[in-house]
Amino acid sequence: MRKILFLPLLALSLALSACGEKKPDAPNSVKPVAALSEVAPVTSAPSNLSGKELHDANCISCHDSSKYTRADHKMQDFAMLSAQVKRCDANLGAKLFDEDIDKIINYMNDTYYKFPK
Ligand code: HEC
Repeated sequence: MRKILFLPLLALSLALSACGEKKPDAPNSVKPVAALSEVAPVTSAPSNLSGKELHDANCISCHDSSKYTRADHKMQDFAMLSAQVKRCDANLGAKLFDEDIDKIINYMNDTYYKFPK
């Protein structure tokens, strides 16, 4: 008796899993543009966002801005700040464009550190 119930269930679960496998391909077959963005990372060109927007979108997952304003913050000059932002970008894995990184560095310096350049 139990075996008879089991077979339709097996067939159903096979059908469902096949369905699940198809899903990732769906956007590609609809628009060729979607396929292109699969090859290149999401950011395929420098953004037109401001330094603040770039910072707020990318840089507050590990720390917030209190790291920059704390009394014993580590950055001592503009070169150090610049190197740290690049290091954090590498940690992030976002690989932001140089133009966007420069905007973030300038935004952070103007807003928080105010080092002479
Ligand atoms: C993967 C986690 C991570 C991400 C994402 C990240 N950071 Fe950091 N960041 C750190 C760590 C860890 C430190 C060191 C904190 C400490 O010294 O306590 C740090 C420190 C810093 C400092 C130095 C603060 C000081 O002491 O003066 C700056 C500036 C900074 N991050 C900028 C950025 C910017 C800009 C981004 C976005 C591009 C970013 N971070 C994204 C992990 C991250």
